[in-house]
Amino acid sequence: MPATPLPQLPELAGLCSYEEASRTALSLDDCVVWLKRMHYVWKRLHQIFTSHITAEPNYELKMAFSLHAHLCAEHAQSIRTRVSEMREPPLGLDVVPHAGLQRACDEVLCAPSTVERIHGLYAVLLPLLNESLTQYLAKTNRLADAPSVRLLRFAQLELADMLAFGEQTVVALDSANTVQGRWVSLLHNSVANAGGISGREPVTPDEQLPQYSAQPFEYDRVPKRDARFQDSFNAGVNPEAFLYDPEFSPRDKTLMMFYKRLREIDVPEMMASILVEMPQKPWGFKRDMTRQLWDEARHAMLGEVGFRQAGIDWTQIPISFIWSYNLNTQLTAQERHAVLFFIEQGLMPKTGKRYEWEVGKASGNPLAALFQDFDWADEVLHAQIGREWYVKDFGDLNGAMAYGDKCWSKVLSHWREYIENGLTEHRNWWPDIYQQACRNWGVEPDPRALAYHETYETIRADLKSISGSA
Ligand SMILES: [Fe+2]
Ligand SMILES: [Fe+2]
Repeated sequence: MPATPLPQLPELAGLCSYEEASRTALSLDDCVVWLKRMHYVWKRLHQIFTSHITAEPNYELKMAFSLHAHLCAEHAQSIRTRVSEMREPPLGLDVVPHAGLQRACDEVLCAPSTVERIHGLYAVLLPLLNESLTQYLAKTNRLADAPSVRLLRFAQLELADMLAFGEQTVVALDSANTVQGRWVSLLHNSVANAGGISGREPVTPDEQLPQYSAQPFEYDRVPKRDARFQDSFNAGVNPEAFLYDPEFSPRDKTLMMFYKRLREIDVPEMMASILVEMPQKPWGFKRDMTRQLWDEARHAMLGEVGFRQAGIDWTQIPISFIWSYNLNTQLTAQERHAVLFFIEQGLMPKTGKRYEWEVGKASGNPLAALFQDFDWADEVLHAQIGREWYVKDFGDLNGAMAYGDKCWSKVLSHWREYIENGLTEHRNWWPDIYQQACRNWGVEPDPRALAYHETYETIRADLKSISGSA
């Protein structure tokens, strides 16, 4: 017996209505042009976020810029993949679609203050991009162009999150009332000159004069932190020496692991400098490195949450920026990448990330175990990213490792200088924090742990000794 059709089932696999599947407004070529213009904006947003991670002092913004840079890179990537499926070689993904779009992005990149940058990003560029996605979805044939529709719908989910973050930030900074209306009009007019992001609205003569982008963008590679971060040159406590000492309990070691995680805020600060100062690198490099950059920002927030759970106010702890500060100011971008790879590769053997996870499990704190579990997985990915983008360029693994080791030692020999220059006293912050945690846990401090006072003066994080003249 022939199967009977069920008229009550959704048509077209539930993808869209017959009406939406009958649209003819956008040809394939029209779609490619529009997608490429959205790609340009995603790519520029990625660049703007990345360029301001290092010198943005506000912790929440530094973390959000790290996430949003990653999201922009991922959405730029999905459009690249889609365009490559649309009969379009050569892809021309590096072409600037219109000087107006370029100017709007350049202006936000060069905006001289956080308030203006935030306004330009979250009150102008991202909303315009979101509008453009909405218009595309309303115009394209949802059956014929289903693969584009799919990726743009995903993009809108994350755009909505970014815009929600932005809305709250714009209100907190009161940017709508403080940012010059003339400059905001310049941004809008520049995009309008380009016929909108889509290029399908009337293109008007390009008569806007650049304001902030009249001078080329200058990247500030010196990391900045807000007032919650104090004594940033403090290297008075060596958490690794504690962590690997069998004398101490896993429970006490979780505090040192949370500290190490939170201190990772310096990795995005440093990695952003590699991305900004190596603009010639291929897109795949930028995308992968930005994923890693975001992971490291996430690791810092894992540390923050760990302290919160232990009832510790982390702002009492000096979260040093020596690593990002020294790498950014004393090494070339390639040397920085070498150091990063050397350190991450060193995390892979048994004493590294697996060990931290085992400590977490043995500590009886399920959150510490879970954080280290995911942190370990992320670091395996980062070692792969390093092999792909650093070792391959360098040539051989052993040489790449030795070079990273040498570059790292080069920046580690200033411990005394910081005291002499009045930058820090390398205060031992550990006993206070440890006692607070013990009080919260309702346990007596272990006297040996309480007396811990190993610093970074002569021992570096991988427990190798530091030679003063290196
Ligand atoms: Fe990390
Ligand atoms: Fe990492």
